[in-house]
Amino acid sequence: MTSTLSELRNAPAGNVLLKRYLMTRSRTESLIAPLSAEDMVVQSMPDASPAKWHIAHTSWFFETFLLRENLADYRPFDPTFAYLFNSYYEAVGPRHPRPQRGLMTRPAMGQVLEYRQYVDEHMRTLLQSPVNKATSDLIELGLSHEEQHQELLLMDILHLFSLSSLKPAYDPRWARDVSGRRGQFKPLKGGLTEIGHKGKGFAFDNEGPRHTTFLQSFEISDRLVTNGEWLAFMADGGYSTAGFWLSDGWATVQANDWNAPGYWQHDENGWQQLTLRGLERIDPAAPVINISYYEAAAFASWADARLPTEAEWEAAAEAGLLEQVDDVAWQWTQSAYNAYPGFRPADSAVGEYNGKFMINVMVLRGGASITAPGHSRTTYRNFFGPEKRWMFSGLRLARDTRQPGVVNSHDSEFARDVIAGLSAPVKNLSPKYFYDAAGSELFEAICKTTEYYPTRAETGLLAEVAQHIAALIPEQAALVEFGSGASDKTRLLLDAAPQIALYVPIDISANALKKAAALLKKSYPRLNVAPQIDDFSRALRLPADVAGHTCVGFFPGSTIGNFTHPQAAKFLRSAHGLLGNKAHFIVGVDLVKDVDILVAAYDDAEGVTGRFNKNLLTRINRELDGNFNVEAFEHLALWNETEARMEMHLVSQTEQVAKVAGHTFHFAAGERLHTENSHKFTIESFTALAAGAGWSVSDYWVSEEPQVALFSLKA
Ligand code: AVI
Repeated sequence: MTSTLSELRNAPAGNVLLKRYLMTRSRTESLIAPLSAEDMVVQSMPDASPAKWHIAHTSWFFETFLLRENLADYRPFDPTFAYLFNSYYEAVGPRHPRPQRGLMTRPAMGQVLEYRQYVDEHMRTLLQSPVNKATSDLIELGLSHEEQHQELLLMDILHLFSLSSLKPAYDPRWARDVSGRRGQFKPLKGGLTEIGHKGKGFAFDNEGPRHTTFLQSFEISDRLVTNGEWLAFMADGGYSTAGFWLSDGWATVQANDWNAPGYWQHDENGWQQLTLRGLERIDPAAPVINISYYEAAAFASWADARLPTEAEWEAAAEAGLLEQVDDVAWQWTQSAYNAYPGFRPADSAVGEYNGKFMINVMVLRGGASITAPGHSRTTYRNFFGPEKRWMFSGLRLARDTRQPGVVNSHDSEFARDVIAGLSAPVKNLSPKYFYDAAGSELFEAICKTTEYYPTRAETGLLAEVAQHIAALIPEQAALVEFGSGASDKTRLLLDAAPQIALYVPIDISANALKKAAALLKKSYPRLNVAPQIDDFSRALRLPADVAGHTCVGFFPGSTIGNFTHPQAAKFLRSAHGLLGNKAHFIVGVDLVKDVDILVAAYDDAEGVTGRFNKNLLTRINRELDGNFNVEAFEHLALWNETEARMEMHLVSQTEQVAKVAGHTFHFAAGERLHTENSHKFTIESFTALAAGAGWSVSDYWVSEEPQVALFSLKA
């Protein structure tokens, strides 16, 4: 082995092919370094080969196709090896039966390594002088062949170790697949496209000829399906529902008792997976691997999608739409492995390399974490039987593009936020989505419950201190209200401060704005009303009518508590920019108080808040094609002491799966979906928050108990 490395160092600088040869051969040898002599002899199944056989066979390839043909006077290392280490080349002669490769205790490993050195020495001699194109092409084929066996060696070792009771690690430092976000569908327009190898670099014969093919418009996921998504499939009866499976696939599942991907095993703490690093807990955010075509197709059918064709995969990869292309797992396509138009295998024995396997197998594209560096290409066509799963095989989904003219609610900001929130390690949804028509009505009803004090307390306080606030408001001021809704509390200010000339309510609901503006106009005929339809939390501009008026901001209702602190600071800063340097800003906040009072306010006895919370799932079902079983979630309100906030959650009562906007989400029994934070402040904590955003507190007023506060901020 060391001789290969020293040869590499001594290789003539100009001989690129020899250098590549020696590097590839040395990589193979480095892969067996962690193995014991016994590890290298055993064959764990007919598909797999012992490491010793891989080591010998890759040398046999060079001996048979290069040295015998091209090196005058070459004498084979051992005449019996032609029989022992021929894989499947009929043209070369008979061979040792494949399922019995594990019975080769002879030749010993030492002899196999000598064979390797012998072949290397002679290849060195061959490559000392220039070789013709046909010979160099054959050497390139031999090197790519060896790289394929490097990958097979790792696959086969992992399979062998999976059958060991000790579940050994091949290499505890073997690199981990990078986990991350789940995939998003990317569209690609259909039409005529070219696929297949082009250019001068090496490619296997099956990658050509390059040819034109037609694609319908389609969408393809930019990332691979994750273990978490696979767990959702399993929890939803993926392995026990015949309807998801192809007939042969269903028979395979039954015959093999499959209930999870290859190398997964369950203990009292959940699922584990045997990797080259040893046994590990499943990482839900990492891509799923070791799945068969049958499983990939069943998953796709369950997910209301399909596998991409190999032409779609190649077009999407060429267009730069895909992540995790060749560094994690080969990806099943729905294409049967077939000859491209115009394909003809070579007349020589190496014509057997790919062509004769073009039946009963499916194409995988990409490359895997165990693939030799630089081995794969976007045109590369890997292939395996649909029931095999000892390869590093995963999947990405595809689907047909929806018909033009059909409104796709799944592409909305709501859909994106919900999918992102439900995909997060701690599932969460933004409270801003509570307020559809039913949610807004339920919120009004909450405000009338005995337990929910903030609205009553703030209205009472505002009535009490309206005159003090009015004294801060200059003549001809513009009152700008954020999230104005029905503008009920505004009236208290307008009554106390007739000097207000212009009222600018900002709200996302055009309807609510229209209604409120009409009513206010009736009550305050001299008041100018300039409604602004906008998401108040990110409003960037005010109507032109504001020009020449000093602005006074108004943000009651302790809604600022529903922001995270960074969001609140950002909001206050941008309000500062919007209202100008002379502005006052009146902000209502709820104060920290007795836990029982707080919890009751968010968990009223009549269950109105619970209905408000669950309505979010009803809304998702209606607007995003969701199928949440709303009754299978319980409302939970709790006080988070560390963060000084009330939290609302929906707790899954059972293990269940929900589909939303074409995505599937798994909930463990007892798992929480975090729906709202309602931060509570002290005078000091809110003063500090405001100061960080460029506001100083000019005054504040606190209500009777249960206490809420109104702050007057000065820009
Ligand atoms: C709108 N917001 C200030 C209310 C709150 O108290 O956080 C929403 C609410 N959630 C449950 N009850 C009321």
